[in-house]
Formats: sequence, C-alpha cells, structure tokens
Amino acid sequence: MIMIYVTGDTHIPIDIHKLDDDAFMEQKKLTKDDYVIICGDFGGVWGNGRGDNYYLNKLENKNFTTLWVDGNHENYTLLKNYKIKEWHGGKVQFIKDSVIHLMRGQVFNIEGKKFFTFGGGNSIDKSIRDPGRTWWSEEMPSKKEYDEGLKNLKLNDFKVDYIISHTAPYHINRDIFKKAVKDEYKLNKYLEDVEDMCDYKKHFFGHFHEDIDIDDKHSCLYQRIIRIV
Ligand SMILES: [Fe+2]
Repeated sequence: MIMIYVTGDTHIPIDIHKLDDDAFMEQKKLTKDDYVIICGDFGGVWGNGRGDNYYLNKLENKNFTTLWVDGNHENYTLLKNYKIKEWHGGKVQFIKDSVIHLMRGQVFNIEGKKFFTFGGGNSIDKSIRDPGRTWWSEEMPSKKEYDEGLKNLKLNDFKVDYIISHTAPYHINRDIFKKAVKDEYKLNKYLEDVEDMCDYKKHFFGHFHEDIDIDDKHSCLYQRIIRIV
C-alpha cells in the first residue's frame, strides 16, 4: 500500500529542510510510488538566477514523489512554460519526473482517494514586491480556474476525500488567523462554498505559517509532515 504525506509551505530554499533525510526520517522506507503533497508556496520554480535545478534535483533524488499546489509565491511566468498533462484524472505540470504541480480546480484519484486541489493566494506584501520578478497577478485564480473546479467537482458528484489548497476558507481566515483581506475574499469564499457543497473528509492548507489543527476537518500545516494515507 502506498503512503501519502502532506505538509505546508516549502518556500524553497527557506523551508525545504523539513524534507531533509534527517528531518523527515520516514522517507527511508518510501519509494517513488509514495507521495508528499506541499500545500502551496513551493518556491521551486523561481528563476531570477537562483539555480532552481539544485533543489529540484534534490527532490528528484528523494525516495518519494513530490506533489505541490501553487501558492502566492511561485514564478507564474516560468510556470507557464511547462506543458499541461493529464495525470490521475487531473491536470498537472511535470517540473521533473517526480516533482509535479497539481493545477487549480482538479480532482485527482490516487489509490482510490480523491483529492480536490485549488492553489493560489494573496501576497499581503505585494506592494513592496516587484511585478513579474517577485510578484505575479496570477497568484489569484482566474474565473476559468474557479469554473473548472466546480465543473470537476460536479463530475465527481461533489464527493472527494481531501481538499488541498494554499489558503483557507473564509470563516477560518477571519476567525482563526484574523487575516481576512479584501484581496483574497473571492478565493476564501470559493473554498468555503466548495466545502459547503462537497462531501469531504479533510481540508489541508498552508499559507499562514502555523501548525494548527483547527477542528476535525481543517488543518493548517507549516513544518509538520502528516501521513494521511
Ligand atoms: Fe508562505
């Protein structure tokens, strides 16, 4: 039986060390058939002369396959260069053979478990970031992506096992993190609507850089790496 883990933002190179051999010891017994899912702010496709390949090759050489949804800190200009392919029922981009971007609004079927993925988020520091170099408007989803998510959920009778996103549904954003910002409202509300219309077991997200189990159905992940399958 395969194993699936989920964790929070990696902000390569800053927070990728949680996946180091001596930090994430379980990887010793994993294979490329096992997965680690990153809940956004992967940061491995960044460019700007930083040498992405060093970190991408490190992941490619790991004993597991890396899956990631996008966050607000990804280079969307570079990401567009990767071909979109079909994988386990949804759209992905292969950054390396075993480093795979799970696109927005997709439902993936992995070992009989369904995952709805919906990345994106608002950068609260965008006013001091440089558009096209350290900030991209594509950090927030397009109408097409929102619509595609609903269409794919419908095709799956609004039944999934896990929701994987970068940011949180609106009420959690507002009540737990006190970070309900106008610029992210549409996405937070969308995630809340998705939860309302779906039968799902658990929703995992990152973005807030905290490790909190909010309730039985919601966990915010940062440094934790949790096994879910
Ligand atoms: Fe982050």
